[in-house]
Amino acid sequence: MDAPQEIKARLDVADVVGEYLQLKPAGSGSFRACCPFHQEKTPSFYVNRPRQTWHCFGCNQGGDIISFVQMMEGLEFPEALQILAEKAGVTLPEYDSRGSSERKRLHEVNDLAMRYFHSQLLTAPNADIARQYVNKRGLDDLTTDVWMLGYAPEGWENLVPALSSKGVTDDELLKAGLAQKGDRGIYDRFRGRIMFPIWDVHGRVVGFTGRILSDDKKEAKYVNTPETFVYKKSSILYGLDKARGEIKRQDLAVLVEGNMDVISSHQFGVSNVVASSGTALTLDQLNLIKRFTQKIAIAFDADNAGKSATIRGFDLARQLDFNIKVITLPPEAGKDPDDAVRKNPELWKNAIKDAKPIIDWMYMSAFKTHDSAKPEGKKEIAKELLTEFARITDAVERDAWISRLANDLEISQGALREALRTNSVAPKKNVIPVRSMLQNEQNTAKVNPQPTKTRHEELLERIWAILCLKPELETLAKESLKGYYLPVPQEKEKLDYLAVLADKEFTEQDKETLEEEIIAAAKTLSEAGLTGKRASLQRLMKEAELAGDQDKITALIEEFNKLTNT
Ligand code: UTP
Ligand code: MN
Repeated sequence: MDAPQEIKARLDVADVVGEYLQLKPAGSGSFRACCPFHQEKTPSFYVNRPRQTWHCFGCNQGGDIISFVQMMEGLEFPEALQILAEKAGVTLPEYDSRGSSERKRLHEVNDLAMRYFHSQLLTAPNADIARQYVNKRGLDDLTTDVWMLGYAPEGWENLVPALSSKGVTDDELLKAGLAQKGDRGIYDRFRGRIMFPIWDVHGRVVGFTGRILSDDKKEAKYVNTPETFVYKKSSILYGLDKARGEIKRQDLAVLVEGNMDVISSHQFGVSNVVASSGTALTLDQLNLIKRFTQKIAIAFDADNAGKSATIRGFDLARQLDFNIKVITLPPEAGKDPDDAVRKNPELWKNAIKDAKPIIDWMYMSAFKTHDSAKPEGKKEIAKELLTEFARITDAVERDAWISRLANDLEISQGALREALRTNSVAPKKNVIPVRSMLQNEQNTAKVNPQPTKTRHEELLERIWAILCLKPELETLAKESLKGYYLPVPQEKEKLDYLAVLADKEFTEQDKETLEEEIIAAAKTLSEAGLTGKRASLQRLMKEAELAGDQDKITALIEEFNKLTNT
């Protein structure tokens, strides 16, 4: 057995997919969920355990366990295989894809650097100042180990010679973003800083954030690994590798801004916390979270709430159907979650518990930003909030907000309703085409996208799907379709597809209903005479192609489309 086969034999598609999505049973060894590859509210993503396949009827993508991991993680085949091999306990023979071996090497180099920085923090004689800093920030020994905190000593040449002696080349140090190139060779990027290793969701070290020890220096407070082959800032959530289990258990991801917020929070037992590291949430980050929960609670630093970048993150999260709440720290809690948890862990826990739906928060912040006593301020507030209200689908709830706003602005409800109706505040819907973004940014893997189907093909497939479930109905199908009957195709891909279609549409129906289905589909097909006409058109098209008759081809295609789109 070759490696992919062995891995597939040892793992179960439903188990693996179940790590990413919340699967619900859907009859006879199949499961369903909302599709992770396009935006939807009702589940059309199916996993078929007997066949070990998956398929989405919404976006028409499907495949096996490996292609699923490829698409979920945005990986090439060998990389997805590697991840699954580890899960399955299968050792892969060295594969020769240059991309994946380079990636692997960068993980190794980062790992060596992490160990170097960590041992510096623990034992280097000249690192007292770093150890004092870590103590001052209240980080205990366990936390220091779990988060592998480290110290990059002062000076230009510490890490570089240390890793060179372990066989790491200059080129590798540069590619990992650990060193920079100068006139006289390469030197350390991180100097005199507390080092926070950054892991990807699988727990591989991909980069670092380094913090200066004293805030009064003129240097940047944080220095990060630059974008590398393995470190893409916009698709990392700090702490996710450690928080993912708890996020899934609690069905809630708490988002904070800083690394220190994450670490302190975990140290005090609040472990469903991750950081976006000072940027607005990106699509990649949201898609990572989506594997574990649909609910997020966001905490802003006191000085940062309401910045436009934040709002952009909200818009994106809403388009992905996240349930979003906003955490507001009480004034006595300090400026960020790290302050709060250190003052009193209960302050932080309660703030999370009291998180408010995003609309409440927007309401508050609109009144904070504009002066509701002035006409101009009233206009701005109404403009901001009516856009929000327009999104509310429940009429009673929407009405309640309108009357509250009218009351608070001391204007008539009629004026607000009028404004809501006019274009000035048209409901904002899917401003960004999320589906195409998903496909561009995330799904580097191509997994047999099915071409758009004609009505005719759909009907035939329905019949075939029924026959996959109940082969004994073939005689009926033959009789009903007469000359138009085509036997169920035997290619594996097609059969996989038909099996999931059968799961979705027909498993719960009794034999009689299935018979009726066949008869009805056959009737539609043969009444229109589609099958025969289509076949002859195809034949004519082939002939025209052979003859190189472009005009005829065009005309035939047109006719063909007319026929099949009905
Ligand atoms: P903050 O400035 O809020 O820092 O930046 P912090 O986390 O509260 O750190 P302390 O408590 O002062 O030590 C929030 C996050 O933004 C990123 C870092 O990841 C930081 O944790 N950041 C900030 C940078 O990447 N570069 C910067 O220059 C500043
Ligand atoms: Mn802080």
